[in-house]
Amino acid sequence: MEKVIISPSILSADFANLERDIDTIQNAGADWVHVDVMDGHFVPNITIGAPVVKAIKPVSKIPLDVHLMIEHPQNYIDDFVDAGADIITIHYEATGEMTEDVISHIKSHDVLAGLSIKPKTPPQDILKYLLMVDMVLIMTVEPGFGGQAFMRDCAEKIPVIKQNAPENLIIQVDGGINRETGKICRSLGANSLVAGSYIYKSDDIKAAIESLRK
Ligand code: DX5
Ligand code: ZN
Repeated sequence: MEKVIISPSILSADFANLERDIDTIQNAGADWVHVDVMDGHFVPNITIGAPVVKAIKPVSKIPLDVHLMIEHPQNYIDDFVDAGADIITIHYEATGEMTEDVISHIKSHDVLAGLSIKPKTPPQDILKYLLMVDMVLIMTVEPGFGGQAFMRDCAEKIPVIKQNAPENLIIQVDGGINRETGKICRSLGANSLVAGSYIYKSDDIKAAIESLRK
């Protein structure tokens, strides 16, 4: 199978020990660090913002994959770029008709641009943006919390995106990913997996990351 980008979510890390927990995943072979930014409006939870991204940047040897689950993401792109984000993913539901402008804004910086859809949003809604972005992120849970169950139906969006995508588009999935669900997503065409609880709650983090590559 194609090479897969593994992006462990630090939402499941110990926030009092972020340096240690980032070190653990990078030593265990993670490709990216997934950072879940939530504002309490777009999703019913508040997590972390640009100051935390800035704080972890010097201790992260691998790219910071920043997932913005916030309203008005266009107002915060520059903050996250300045903080050291390497990939910035926005939600189509948050930008609507402004999506193209916000993608252009992200792409005007030296970072990758991602576009995400929630479980109820059909993949057809974002096909017109596939040539503009570097990555599509398909949510396989309702965004807001770690540790939720994988929604199998959402994975059916992967082939729809893949069939319409340029060859180098990264197709990422996020939510309820473990060895079994990760395999389903990869067989459907995903080439990047986000996993929070599966990786951080595992007794052997290296083995958990490797299991997602098999
Ligand atoms: C959910 C976040 C996810 C979350 C995944 O809103 O976007 O990145 O951390 O957690 P798990 O892997 O535990 O479902
Ligand atoms: Zn996420």
